[in-house]
Amino acid sequence: MRMRKQIAAANWKMNLSFQQGEKLLDDILTAKIALADHQEVIFAVPYPYLLMTRSEVAEEKNYYTAAQNCYHKKSGAYTGEVSAEMLHSIGVPYCVIGHSERREYFNESNAVLADKLNLCLENFITPIFCCGEPLSIREKGTQNEFVAIQLKESLYHLPAEKIKDIVIAYEPIWAIGTGKTATTEQAQEMHAYLRSALAAQYGKDIAAQISILYGGSVKANNAKELFSCPDVDGGLVGGASLVAADFIEIIKALK
Ligand code: 13P
Repeated sequence: MRMRKQIAAANWKMNLSFQQGEKLLDDILTAKIALADHQEVIFAVPYPYLLMTRSEVAEEKNYYTAAQNCYHKKSGAYTGEVSAEMLHSIGVPYCVIGHSERREYFNESNAVLADKLNLCLENFITPIFCCGEPLSIREKGTQNEFVAIQLKESLYHLPAEKIKDIVIAYEPIWAIGTGKTATTEQAQEMHAYLRSALAAQYGKDIAAQISILYGGSVKANNAKELFSCPDVDGGLVGGASLVAADFIEIIKALK
């Protein structure tokens, strides 16, 4: 069976100038952290920085670039939007889909995200599909049911051979940008639940091959502990990915 990937993914969000982004990549890449076959580092950068990032990582084994979003239609009169096909045409291999900030500020529904996933997969782009509950749901204790609906409505139309090609990121909204990380117990519990839900839908072997990343205040000083959980396959990192020394430590924390 294929070993699932352990991934450190940076999500720059809407931060850094082009020059700052280029310097950050240089600083991280000059650390020359060699990755094993089962490890990957992914930089999800703003659209105008994709080509620069792609050429920065071109010579590095298992370092990749990602878009942070794409539009849910194939092509046409959608001024200002970027399609999955366009991303593929410039050699982008990954795309973040359904980040909670897009769900919240841009009203992206589970159904729209299903369309985006389809378009990514049709264009040979691996989606990094984000799910996760808000604080009110966590306080009620219904987080499992909440994420189960996100998976069902956006993913479960996909056949098994396609589901293998996606990465899932569990990002509890209450932990994003708050400095309030999920405990290792909370992370492991949810990741195990997600994997069991995928196993119920697609079988154990398929579920065992899907990388499930944790996101939400991953820092240099907690990455190792979080990533050591058996069902946590790395992280999707916001704030700490903007500081070279911090992200370098996070890469080194990969299993
Ligand atoms: P922070 O690491 O800043 O909490 O952000 C997490 C996130 O949203 C990554 O996509």
